[in-house]
Amino acid sequence: MSTQRKPATSDRVTTTAPAQLFERPGGGERAALVQLDDGRADCRSALEELAALAESAGAEVVDRLINRRDKPDARFFLGRGKVEELRERLQSAGADLVLVNHFLTPAQERNLERELGCRVLDRTGLILDIFAQRARTHEGKLQVELAQLRHIASRLVRGWSHLERQKGGIGLRGPGETQLEMDRRMLGQRIKQLEKRLERVRRQRHQGRQSRRKRDLPAVSLVGYTNAGKSTLFNRLAASEVFAADQLFATLDTTLRRIELPGAEPAVFADTVGFISDLPHQLVAAFRSTLEEVVEADLLLHVVDASASTRDEQGEEVEEVLAEIGASEVPVLRVYNKIDLLDQPPRVVRDDHGRVQAVWLSAATGEGLDVLLEAVAECVGERRAHGRLRLAPSQGRLRARLYQSGDVLHERVLDNGDCLMEVSLPQRELERLQRHEGLPTSIEYL
Ligand code: GTP
Repeated sequence: MSTQRKPATSDRVTTTAPAQLFERPGGGERAALVQLDDGRADCRSALEELAALAESAGAEVVDRLINRRDKPDARFFLGRGKVEELRERLQSAGADLVLVNHFLTPAQERNLERELGCRVLDRTGLILDIFAQRARTHEGKLQVELAQLRHIASRLVRGWSHLERQKGGIGLRGPGETQLEMDRRMLGQRIKQLEKRLERVRRQRHQGRQSRRKRDLPAVSLVGYTNAGKSTLFNRLAASEVFAADQLFATLDTTLRRIELPGAEPAVFADTVGFISDLPHQLVAAFRSTLEEVVEADLLLHVVDASASTRDEQGEEVEEVLAEIGASEVPVLRVYNKIDLLDQPPRVVRDDHGRVQAVWLSAATGEGLDVLLEAVAECVGERRAHGRLRLAPSQGRLRARLYQSGDVLHERVLDNGDCLMEVSLPQRELERLQRHEGLPTSIEYL
């Protein structure tokens, strides 16, 4: 894992890579994981998730350490004894990187690095690192860089005051501090520049969304905890090649596809970034524009890994993020994925009013995809009527209306001037034409 990697765009900052700012120990790829056990959460599964995150980032996990304490230590996060133990374990395991599954204050991060003599990353830093590796679109890269720089900037400010205190303050300003001031100013400028650029990209994206709206295609967004199988499902649905891998956050950028629904209008489906517990707030903010796709959707498919032991907690985390980005009002259809691992049949679950609530399927085997498409059509798509009808020559106006509001699939003019048409149009529109425009009710459904 390149923890010293510069921000991920081609316009990256060339003079202020994180390592230069702090003169931190170099990071490696042999990682020791650290988890606090405060007796509340299930720390074993939290540690498992951290291991998956670490592997996603390209690290090899060589040791795991759990520290039982009610509260983190203010200076070192871990207790003194544990810091000692960790240093010895790092040596014997040949680890050169410590990943802490929590938020560390800048001071804790630096104190630990000094004591351990190797790079220490907290959960935010690790997720940022993975995001930097995964962003592929221009917008995604800008968003990651912005989040990274904000993260650095927050640490720099506090780091600077820390240094100042050590040096004795007023009258003792050394060159190091001047350098830091310059770094701060450059960071600030770069952040402003990125914000402006993102705003431009965002406006373009907004225009794209509006033109989709004009065509009135329903928008369906896939959301879910990281690794739930969103991309695999999306690929199946779109028969496309969106990157799917057993890595967390393989998808960082929104991808859109138009997908046909049975007996209904097609819909635009969007695959979005995976959510995760404790998703750092600055990341939620940074990805806000990508997540707008979620907020403005007509339907959310909340993909859940039905085989995960923590599936309920993961579901709740996703709901929390949805609330945080203002999407709690959007209708949700739960998609329980990976039923092949549970040996369960595909099925649809309805509430007491007969409304679709959840679908159980396997994106990997494709079982239950038809059930899902039916369910989505039921939720967003207006049912379409497909049938044949006959219009008299005097019904020219109605014929024109049919062309306007539906698809005329076939038309034949008979010898007597009557018109035989095969049409497909939204059921509601059909009923309206029958009520108000004299459309024959004797339509022959196909
Ligand atoms: P992020 O990009 O991290 O948000 O992940 P994602 O939700 O897009 O997950 P992705 O589609 O990349 O799938 C994650 C892993 O689960 C991959 O190894 C898939 O092959 C696997 N997977 C997805 N769907 C199924 C399924 O139905 N059954 C089984 N057994 N594995 C699945």
